Amino acid sequence: MTHILHRQIHARLPVAAGGSGIELFDTEGRAYIDASGGAAVSCLGHGHPDIVQALRRQAETLAYAHTSFFTNEPAERLADRLIASAPEGISHAYFVSGGSEANEAAIKMARQYFVEKGEPQRRNIIARRQSYHGNTLGTLAAGGNEWRRAQFAPLLIETHHISPCYAYRHREEGESEAAYGQRAAQELEDKIRELGPDTVMAFMAEPVVGATAGAVPAVEGYFRRIREICDRHGVLLILDEVMCGMGRTGTMFACEQDGVRPDIVTIAKGLGGGYQPIGAALLSRDIFDAFAGGSGLFQHGHTYICHPMACAAALAVQEVIARDDLLQNVRDTGAYLRERLEARFGNHAHVGDIRGRGMFLGLELVADRSTKATFEPDAKLHARVKKEAMVRGLMVYPAGGTVDGRRGDHVLLAPPFILDRTAAEAIVERLGDALDAAVAQDFAGRLPA
Ligand SMILES: Cc1ncc(COP(=O)(O)O)c(C=O)c1O
Repeated sequence: MTHILHRQIHARLPVAAGGSGIELFDTEGRAYIDASGGAAVSCLGHGHPDIVQALRRQAETLAYAHTSFFTNEPAERLADRLIASAPEGISHAYFVSGGSEANEAAIKMARQYFVEKGEPQRRNIIARRQSYHGNTLGTLAAGGNEWRRAQFAPLLIETHHISPCYAYRHREEGESEAAYGQRAAQELEDKIRELGPDTVMAFMAEPVVGATAGAVPAVEGYFRRIREICDRHGVLLILDEVMCGMGRTGTMFACEQDGVRPDIVTIAKGLGGGYQPIGAALLSRDIFDAFAGGSGLFQHGHTYICHPMACAAALAVQEVIARDDLLQNVRDTGAYLRERLEARFGNHAHVGDIRGRGMFLGLELVADRSTKATFEPDAKLHARVKKEAMVRGLMVYPAGGTVDGRRGDHVLLAPPFILDRTAAEAIVERLGDALDAAVAQDFAGRLPA
């Protein structure tokens, strides 16, 4: 009998007892390769001695000091480090405890920026369908995942959504990727005009859509066009790199590969690698100047902003990634993992698309490759894949509702950056067996949706 309100009340979960490198262990002695870093979190794997030591040192020195009284060294050093490698124009960091808080702060920053600038009529946020920006009311409102929003809809602020840039599903027959990208981006301009350009404050998007769509990057040129549209209408571009940032795609920021500069970029998961809860909203000089030259404050705050333990963990994680040149491994072993996935699933009857960047990879599952028909949502193929993978000692991050919040299934992979080729092969082999077992059970007697 547990006294925790677990995510799934009737699920019987193994008890995590420890972890080392790319593996987690349960109290029954079973080992699991963590091929998803939980939810794209554990970028350094588990039990990394350098991070453990940094945490011990920080706990002995200073565990907590409230930010209305003090600043602290780990937070200052982490901010210096992040800003040094941030996209052009980004000048300051606001540290919180996770991704939802980071995006919530970003939304409020956007609003306060326009109030400070004397444009208080700007209040509309535009985001994309099938995106996930968090579970607080503000970020849930911004997100575009129907299933997550549905029961809370009466509580959510008004937001607006355009289509995602999702070539596998939305690019038309005969349409080039470039043309598709321009068409998808044009929806933003149309929406801004519909709402009235001087009422829109921000467009929010994940450069590579993670949990809700399964590692979907935009096509070439899409985000550059988005940036032009935002600039034309004075709209802020908020990029949510909570999942895809901090090296996950092979560059420190995912948006580097799209050649685009955000006004605010949010980060979390891989920032602290799970060693502590931490997130951040990184903001531009322009926004900082508006606050500094206006009210002189950001009207927001939480008890745990700039938490010394969280910042010390993140600092150590980021130092190890740089010292061990792990982004090179994300690119090289990530490419190898993708190659193995293509060899195993490229002709698989139920894998329609293999996609992603670096060590952020997704497989979209289909009942029929030629028509791209999805499995029956009630079959919950994604849940079955997860279960079959766990039985085989493999953690992956599957989800349903890939296509429209209801239909479709995908599997997300986000292994630790320390992954080697042998482990990449083991992941593919176990995932192949898990998928075959899940499809064999589910497909029998069920018609595609
Ligand atoms: C892109 C993105 N944004 C925001 C969040 C919310 O982060 P958190 O769960 O840390 O609040 C997530 C979590 O999965 C995410 O993937």
